[in-house]
Amino acid sequence: MSKWIKWVGLVLLVVLLIMQFFGIDKENPAVDPSVEFMSVVNPPQDIADMMKAACYDCHSHETKYPWYTNIAPLSWWIGHHIEEGRAELNFSEWGNYPADKAAHKAEESGEEVEEKHMPLKSYLITHSEAKLNDEQIERLSRWFMALADTRDVTERVRETEVQPAPSVEEGDEHNHNHDHDDHSGHNH
Ligand code: HEC
Repeated sequence: MSKWIKWVGLVLLVVLLIMQFFGIDKENPAVDPSVEFMSVVNPPQDIADMMKAACYDCHSHETKYPWYTNIAPLSWWIGHHIEEGRAELNFSEWGNYPADKAAHKAEESGEEVEEKHMPLKSYLITHSEAKLNDEQIERLSRWFMALADTRDVTERVRETEVQPAPSVEEGDEHNHNHDHDDHSGHNH
C-alpha cells in the first residue's frame, strides 16, 4: 500500500515537472495610443485608476504577470482568463470598436461591475488593490452606463425624432381635446 502511494506521488511529481516546460506566452502585444481607451475616452482620474487596478490585467495589453504565473497548471488557468478577457473586451483596442459595439461593451461593463461579476472573484485573492467598495462600484458602474449613453446619442436622437413622435403627439392631442370637449359639454 505505502509502496503504491510512493509510486503515485512520484508519477504526479514527474507530471508536474514536465508541465513546467509549458509556460504561457507573457509577451504583451504592443499598445497603440491612438486607439487605447485612456487616450480615446480620457476618463476622470479616479475612473482610470480603478480600471487600471481592477480590469487592465485581463482586458488590455498591459497585463502584469506575478511570479506565480510561472507555475503550471496555475499559469494555464490564468493565461486562459487573460485570453478570454481580452477577446470579450480589450481596452487597448477600444478605438477600433465600431460605435455601437463600444456602447454595448460600456453598458456591459457597467452591469458586470454593478453585479459584482467583475473583476473575477479569484483575481481578488491575490489582488486586494482591485477590490472595489460599494461606493466605487456605484461610481464606476454609473460612469460606464453614462459612457454607453453618450456613444449612443446620435442613434437615440434619430429614433425619437423620426419614428414615434408624430403619431403619439397626434393621438395625445386628439384625446386631450376630446376629453376637454366632453367635460365642457356636461358642464354647460
Ligand atoms: C482576472 C481577469 C479579469 C479581470 C480582472 C476582469 N475581467 Fe472582465 N472578464 C474576464 C473573463 C475571463 C471574461 C469572459 C468570461 C466571463 O464573462 O466570465 C470577462 C468578461 C467581461 C465582460 C463581458 C461580459 C459578457 O458576458 O459579455 C465585461 C463587460 C467585462 N469582463 C468587464 C470587466 C471590467 C469592467 C473589469 C474591471 C472592473 C473586469 N472585467 C475585470 C476576466 C477578467
